[in-house]
This record gives sequence, C-alpha cells and structure tokens, in this order.
Amino acid sequence: MCGIVAYLGCREAYPILIRGLHRLEYRGYDSAGVAVLNDEGKLNIYKAVGKVSNLEQVAEGHDCSGTIGIAHTRWATHGAPNEANAHPHISQSGDLTMVHNGIIENAGGLRDQLKAKGFSFRSETDTEVLLQLIEYTQQKHGADLASAVRSALKKVIGAYAIAVIDRKEPGTIVAARKSSPLAVGLGEGNSEFFIASDASPIAGYTNKVVYLNDEEVVVCRRGEPLYITTLNADKVDFRTKEIDLDVTMLDKGGFPHFMLKEIFDQPSVLRDCMRGRLLPAHHRIILSAVTEHREELIGAKRYLMVSCGTSWHAALIGKQLIEQFCRIPVEVAYASEFRYSDPVVGPGDVVFAISQSGETADTLSAIQMASERGAMVFGIVNAVGSSIARASDTGTYIHVGPEIGVASTKAFTGQTTVLTMLALAIAREKGSISETDYNDAITELEQIPDKIERILAKNDEIKALAKEYVDKKNFLYLGRGMNFPVALEGALKLKEISYIHAEGYPAAEMKHGPIALVDEDMPVVFIATHHNLYEKILSNMQEVAARKGRVLAIVSEGDTVVKGIAEHVIEVPPTANFLSPLVSVIPLQLLAYHIAVSKGLNVDQPRNLAKSVTVE
Ligand code: M6R
Repeated sequence: MCGIVAYLGCREAYPILIRGLHRLEYRGYDSAGVAVLNDEGKLNIYKAVGKVSNLEQVAEGHDCSGTIGIAHTRWATHGAPNEANAHPHISQSGDLTMVHNGIIENAGGLRDQLKAKGFSFRSETDTEVLLQLIEYTQQKHGADLASAVRSALKKVIGAYAIAVIDRKEPGTIVAARKSSPLAVGLGEGNSEFFIASDASPIAGYTNKVVYLNDEEVVVCRRGEPLYITTLNADKVDFRTKEIDLDVTMLDKGGFPHFMLKEIFDQPSVLRDCMRGRLLPAHHRIILSAVTEHREELIGAKRYLMVSCGTSWHAALIGKQLIEQFCRIPVEVAYASEFRYSDPVVGPGDVVFAISQSGETADTLSAIQMASERGAMVFGIVNAVGSSIARASDTGTYIHVGPEIGVASTKAFTGQTTVLTMLALAIAREKGSISETDYNDAITELEQIPDKIERILAKNDEIKALAKEYVDKKNFLYLGRGMNFPVALEGALKLKEISYIHAEGYPAAEMKHGPIALVDEDMPVVFIATHHNLYEKILSNMQEVAARKGRVLAIVSEGDTVVKGIAEHVIEVPPTANFLSPLVSVIPLQLLAYHIAVSKGLNVDQPRNLAKSVTVE
C-alpha cells in the first residue's frame, strides 16, 4: 500500500522523486521520505510524518543535490507512523538505503538472527530487517549489491517491491518485486531510469515502461542497459510496453479534490469506456475478449466474480446483469473470503476479477488460486499493465483513466458499464436476448453519459442538502434489486470519507431487524426510482416514515408520489431498470462528498485508508 519511487539519470533526482511521491500519495500518507546520493558520495536522507508536503518543508534549505535517489510514501503495517519507521531506511554501516512496499512475514525471526550477529535496529519495521539482511549478505560473501539483494530475497517470506542504493556503488539502483507492483521507465539511451509503484510518476518523462514480474530483480546501472534476472541470477528477457497515460488526468483540473473531479469526469470517461466497443450505428457491442473466448464464455456452466470493496458492489450488479441477460448463474465472493475457503472451482468455470487498481492482494491471490485449479480468469481492471491484468487469461479494461481519490467513483461506474456491455455481448452470442431488446439496450446505454451530466448539474442542490445531514451519527441506505448494491455503495462512500456510520440494506430486509434503529434522528436514504420494484419500495418507505425516520429519496424525474412521503428527494433522469445503478449512484457520491467536506475532512485521503490494498 506504500508507494516507492527511484531515479537514476542525469537530472537532479530530488524534484523528480517529490513529484512522483505526490502522484503516489494516494497509496498511503502516514509518512514520507527521500534519500539522495550527492556527487561527494554523501547520502542525504529526509523524512517526515504525514504528507509529502511535510517532507518538502523538512528538506527545504538542505542539500538535496544528486542524480540518484529513492523515495517513499508510507501506509503503516509494521510499526507506528512515526519518523523512525518512515522510509528510506539505512543499514547499520550507513552505506545502504532502501524503500519497500509490502510485508516481510518472517521479519521477526530474521530480526532475532541478525541481532545475534551484532546488528541493531533503529525502527520497528520489517523493511529495516530486510535491509540489514542484505548488508549482512554483502559482508559475509563480499557480494556486490545485486547479488546480495538476490540472495537476501531468497530468505524472506512475504511481499515486496524494493529499491536499494549502495554508497559504494554510486551509479546503481537495484530493485525487485514479489506480489507488490513495480514498473521501470526507460529514458533516453541507457542514461535514465525511473522506478515506481505504478506508471504515474513515470508519465511525462518517458512512455517506455517495463513491468517487473514476481521474483525478478532489476539492475539499473549508469551507462548500461537495463538488466533483469530471477532470484537465481538467470537473465530475463523483458518486454517494453508503451504507456499512454494522460498526464492531465493526474491533476485536479481546477476541482478542490480528486474525488469531485473524478465524479465530474464520469460522463466523459464512460464515453471513453464505450468508445469502439458500443457501436450504436451498427447495433453491436464488440469486446475482443468475448470474440476471442466465445466458446468458453457461452459454454460455461457458471461464472464466479471475486473482488473487494466498491468493486465487489459492481460485481453484485454484474451478477444481476449476467443472470438476467445470459441466464448463466453467477456467484459473487469477497476475494479475501474466496481465497481461504477451499473454493469449488475448476475447468469450465470463468472467474471474473474486478479491480480498479489491479493490485489488490486478495483479488490477485484469489485468481491465482482459481487459475491453478483450471478456471479461466477474466480481468475487469482499470490500471493497464497491473498485476491482476497480467495474471488474467483475458479481460476488458474499463479505461476510465487514473483514479486518485481513495473513494472509488468513476471506477465503479466504469466497471458497471463494462459489465453491462459484457452481459449484452455474451447474451447475443448465446442467443439469450432478442434482437429488439439488444438494440434497445444499446440505445439506452449510449445515453447514460448525458443523463449523468444532468445529475451533475444538481451539484449545488445536493451540496445544500448535505448541510442538513452533517451532524448525523448514523445512516441507513435502502434499495432493492439492481439498486441494492447501490445502497451498499452509497453507505460505503459515506462511511469511508465522512466517518459517519452507515449501513446498506435490501429495503425489504429492514423489517427483519434494522427497522429497530429507525427514529426521528435516523436519516434513511431510499433509492426509489421508477423500476420493477417501485411499488414494493414505496411500502418500505411508508414503514420508515411511520416510525418518524427522515427519508431522503433518489427518485425518477417527475415522481410525485415519493414527494408526499419523503422529507427530501433528488431527481434523476429515467432509464431502463438494468441501467439504474449508473444514474442512482451519482447523487449518493455527491452527497457523501459534500457531507465530508462540510465536516472539514480530507476526502481524498481519509484516515487509515489507502487507495490500493496490496497487503492482505
Ligand atoms: O483497486 P480495487 O478495485 O481492487 O480496490 C478494491 C477496494 O479496496 C476499493 O474499492 C475500496 O473499497 C475503495 N476505497 C472504495 O471506495
């Protein structure tokens, strides 16, 4: 969950590292640190608790010169978020410095062994243990940095993406990965290397990137070509990928927060997501993964979906879409539960992995297990070239651009859009949808970005409404059918950025327990758009109103019935039932955002959270 950046080249490293840290700050912001090796061979290391801007203040006025350096932004796992535990760490001799993203699970035992050999520790981190192990290996075997790193990594259990510098080898950075992502950007000739947890710190400098695979070690040496080996020092032939990252997407674009920008990005990024795939003029949806894997997809007896958080909510919608259109049964599992459940999965099953980051450790492990057991893995991922994308047999990118705000917004609607196209494309191949229904669905789907624009125009109205709810301690979110997952998503958005307790529930389940919570102080958000279960949800709303619950309802434009029951309504444009989540979630995103902002909270970096959860 931490972010690492490293640079070796002919430019000053410090500004490149700081800019990279700002772009990776979404991965963790408990502390930040930077180490730069200057031309006199001195390692200057600066650290600060909290954000990268704190680090900049600490480093200001000090020597930050040098053309080689490493940097880190931390989400604490081992040890409190204080300066001693902040990276980069330094070895006992002071020669080596390292940044690390991941968890070394056998750090405790290794620490004891190293202590017995005379090593002492300045921090509580597993990272320092690995660093001292590298130094011990160097000293014991007289090894160079790369050999010592390989040999030390063979002794550790766990996940790592690391970058190490040795003062004795001033023109070299050694980096490696296992289960934590790492990309290497190649600048001009052999003279420049950019290493980072994802491609965002690299974008703008070069579009040539190499993504490391598990247990690979990369040696970046001044004036020499990139050299990658396995842990056994066998040379690896690598492929360079061209990244096409829109750097403007990495800025707030005039919005006060990434989250608000990303909410407002939705009409345009959903058009990007559909471009070249949804072809209304030809009455077709073309997804290359469906064309290439037609037989496996239409022949499967069942599908499984694994994911976490917001992506799990999208999976719940995907299940309903696929079951409705394709008549193929779908099971949805939390990836973290699936991987330890000894799941019944094997040849003939298709397992869909849904993930914005493509790096969520539980989702990655779940598909690795499914793959080992013979299932086909289909990735629905945003981050191009990410671990889940690469571990999948096939897949469809959602193409909504980088999502920086910790609270997922455009990724959710992107995932839902891809799942909708997927369900319709498979249904057509399978013959389980009529031509008329298929054509109507395409027409309706194409209109979604325009409808979202109409909802975004109500931003000020929702902002004013949010002020009425700022002091509430609890919320209930209720929906049915396609909108039950939206209720879960609305509740998750609120709790993660506003720290208000919120529960999402299927509306009819309320009377089996949660209705006991309802009183005049309990806001109850109903998703009550004009759909197949509209009449049913009206009854549920009456039940809440009768108990003096404060009803806020998301309704279809022109609804007059709900206005007679609810205290507040937010209107959304009408759409087909199966597309309803794509419109009903938008006001809930805005509501959560404005409540959190009114409470004075940092919505982009909520406490205790990180954007991508690369530890289990
Ligand atoms: O990158 P992923 O989609 O795999 O991430 C899954 C969850 O960690 C993520 O959706 C998380 O729940 C968000 N903070 C929700 O807003």
